[in-house]
Amino acid sequence: MSTAAIIPAAGLGLRLGGEAPKAFREVGGESLLVHAVRGLKAATAADLACFVIAVPPGTEDLVSKELMPYCEGARLLVVAGGSERTDSVRLALDLVPYDGIDCILVHDAARSFVPPEVIDRVVAAVRAGAPVAVPVLPVTDTIKRVDEAGRVVDTPDRRTLVAVQTPQGFEPSVLRRAHAGDGTGATDDAMLCERLGVTVQTVEGSEDAFKVTRPRDLLLAEWLLTERRKA
Ligand code: C5P
Repeated sequence: MSTAAIIPAAGLGLRLGGEAPKAFREVGGESLLVHAVRGLKAATAADLACFVIAVPPGTEDLVSKELMPYCEGARLLVVAGGSERTDSVRLALDLVPYDGIDCILVHDAARSFVPPEVIDRVVAAVRAGAPVAVPVLPVTDTIKRVDEAGRVVDTPDRRTLVAVQTPQGFEPSVLRRAHAGDGTGATDDAMLCERLGVTVQTVEGSEDAFKVTRPRDLLLAEWLLTERRKA
């Protein structure tokens, strides 16, 4: 059995600034999207058989040509994304084949440098029977809930909080059921499954799986890539 990967890459990346959509911004001479695809392919235990990428409308052909050399035998499908991340994932999910796929990964293009061992942990958890598995890290900040006026409502116990990364892994029928419902307000795909009452398993994430969001993240990404190329 093999894995399929959905990569939502249709965001404009307004917080990052710059003229190109975020997934097309380059680090070390290659786009974040290329780094993301190569990273997923490097997780050999996952056995990636199919990539479905959601991109800004009008860039489908360009992205297909750019990514083809990195898919190494895996099928590549590129689709125009939607207005919200959840819409982009749903549009991509419609193209994921049913046959021979025992795990679907959903991975943000912006988490371009996730190490292969994190991907393998997620896939292994799904193959061991978890309907949903997500990589997480403990939070280092104290997190507070605030009201609309900016007043603190309460402070959850930090030991019960984790920061969630991608790729998130799903038993295929669970992800399809989750996306068949209303996706309003969902900031990740595990959240849609939680709404169905499905148990979400956590596995250990990595600091290297940070999301490129703001300009300083590009500097961190350049540094990380330089260190990896030295190693
Ligand atoms: O905006 P944020 O960084 O949370 O986006 C996470 C991922 O979702 C990014 O890879 C982005 O390209 C993608 N996205 C998308 N379609 C949208 C918005 C975001 O594919 N409409």
